Amino acid sequence: MYVDRKPSMDLEDIRETMEKRFSMNEDFNSLEYFENMLNFVELNHVYSSALEEITTKLKILDDEFQVIHKHNPIHHMERRVKGTRSLLSKLERKNLPVTIESAKENILDIAGMRVICNYIEDIYVLEKLLLKQEDIKLLKRKDYIADPKGNGYRSLHIVVSVPVFLSESTEHTPVEIQIRTIGMDMWASLEHKMRYKNTKKDTEAYMAMLQECASEISNVENKMQDMHNDIKD
Ligand code: GTP
Ligand code: MG
Repeated sequence: MYVDRKPSMDLEDIRETMEKRFSMNEDFNSLEYFENMLNFVELNHVYSSALEEITTKLKILDDEFQVIHKHNPIHHMERRVKGTRSLLSKLERKNLPVTIESAKENILDIAGMRVICNYIEDIYVLEKLLLKQEDIKLLKRKDYIADPKGNGYRSLHIVVSVPVFLSESTEHTPVEIQIRTIGMDMWASLEHKMRYKNTKKDTEAYMAMLQECASEISNVENKMQDMHNDIKD
């Protein structure tokens, strides 16, 4: 039903990053090093738990939908906790303090989830049902389906906060959820690959083709949605 895209914690990654950071510092403090590492482990645990909560909520909605409407809105889900290295470089890139506190406050995609739906309407149904739940708070929303990006990228992005109940505290944890169709996901994977694999010149040549594909995919999806609605009634 879901795929964890990365091991949730990479100790080697933490070791390397921390060693680099502290070796630049003359008065290397091993206690501080250790505590920082513990903070990262703790951070990772809270965000993995938040992903677990959202996965369960969506799975329950999907199962209920199957019982009532004989239709599964969710094709599959993917999830990942941002790796330590990528988290630290994002903080640096955004000129933010490189601390756990600053990461918690400013980086909303430490926990990331991708929900791949069968039909376009499923996306908005899932969004509505999830946001209706009283423990879920909407922090940010970008509808790139109603308003696609210039390159043709389409998806619904929401960031929600979900409470994670720990033994000593309740952590209201942000989770970025990208909800898209199979077609949108196929498009985004290829566009992502091209961005990293090709030279600038190649990328430019493919850009127009990608835009064309985005609109063809959108047309096909609308037709399939109409047919699906017809046979449903
Ligand atoms: P950041 O602070 O940079 O994370 O900004 P943001 O979260 O406001 O950005 P946004 O919601 O626009 O996009 C976040 C994520 O959406 C990216 O990490 C990608 O996974 C995905 N995404 C956004 N735009 C594109 C795109 O043009 N192509 C592909 N393939 N993915 C995209
Ligand atoms: Mg983001």
